[in-house]
Amino acid sequence: MNLPFLSREDLVVGVDIGSHAVKVCQLKRTDKAYAIVNLGSATLPDGAVDDGTLNEPEIVGEIISELFKNLKIKKKKVGFSISGYSVIVKKVNLAVMSDQELEEHIQSEAEQYIPFDLDDVYLDFQDLKTNVGDEDRTDVMLVAAKQEVVDEYLEMLEGLGLNPVIVDVDGFALENTYEYNYPKEGNVALVDIGASKMNINIISEGVSVVARDIVVGSRQLTEQIESAFDIEFEEAEALKLGHIPAEEKQEEMEEIFLSTCTQWVLEIKKAIDLYHANHPEAPLSRLVLSGGGSKVSGLVEYLASETDTEVELFNPFSNMTVNEKKIDPDYLKNVGPEMAIATGIAIRPSVI
Ligand SMILES: Nc1ncnc2c1ncn2[C@@H]1O[C@H](COP(=O)(O)OP(=O)(O)OP(=O)(O)O)[C@@H](O)[C@H]1O
Ligand SMILES: [Mg+2]
Repeated sequence: MNLPFLSREDLVVGVDIGSHAVKVCQLKRTDKAYAIVNLGSATLPDGAVDDGTLNEPEIVGEIISELFKNLKIKKKKVGFSISGYSVIVKKVNLAVMSDQELEEHIQSEAEQYIPFDLDDVYLDFQDLKTNVGDEDRTDVMLVAAKQEVVDEYLEMLEGLGLNPVIVDVDGFALENTYEYNYPKEGNVALVDIGASKMNINIISEGVSVVARDIVVGSRQLTEQIESAFDIEFEEAEALKLGHIPAEEKQEEMEEIFLSTCTQWVLEIKKAIDLYHANHPEAPLSRLVLSGGGSKVSGLVEYLASETDTEVELFNPFSNMTVNEKKIDPDYLKNVGPEMAIATGIAIRPSVI
């Protein structure tokens, strides 16, 4: 959402808890830009986090603790983001009103759109102020998140002695870091392909107009390799990442990659088609890919040819400074796509 950049307020450490790995990013504000203080990631055991739900809070907690220790992060204020079935984001068009009136009205509005009992959710909203001139209606972004799911994260982080002060949503964090790092022009699709889900967020003139989560991701590749060759998950993952040579498995692996990536591309094309149907006057200018799945070799080129659109990998550090003696630039380049959401959380000023 539209948040003040380069805030003078205290920043949080961004913690992105995905289904495959935890990513952590700490920034500081310098005169002109953000500077990277610290960043890193740690892989989670299979099933510890699933569809945005913390199944194994103790194990995840230990891994986060270890990661903070290894990175020597002393700061306690953290932000994290949620995604999956437990969070619903909905844009509604309402009569223009003051924030206070909106606050009072939003509950009844949410009842129509949020398929959960409102007593069980945290509700938030933001007036996107899309009304121009004397228009009397505006778009408002509604966010509802299941309390029990959010509370699990809060408890887990508090149990580590951390102080969680920001709860973000994956798609918003991505948008946030995109807006900070890239020029605010044109119409762009942000696509995050993680291990278990793909988040598509199309932004037109600075406003999110299509947002969806689809249950596909790079883990699909690992699972297919696992079953095709009857091997363990870890070995399949290593084969997928090229950490062990494919040798005679090469051809079958290529087929797996091609069929899965074709499915991803079809989903992306569906979202783009929907966008173009509603905004024929404002064609999409670019696709920016993030998440570990975006690093599948050849995906950028394949997607570019299938959509006839410019495609690039997200560099969430393009407008940030870094001490190259402390953080290796090659590591930074490689890890950029996975770090997009963590950086998006880390540039949000803490509000509490
Ligand atoms: N070069 C690569 N090719 C294919 N897959 C890759 C590559 N590098 C990383 N991945 C995959 O990306 C996934 C991790 O990415 P990421 O950290 O974005 O996922 P996550 O945030 O944990 O998952 P999610 O957001 O879906 O819950 C893993 O499945 C990993 O195997
Ligand atoms: Mg993720």
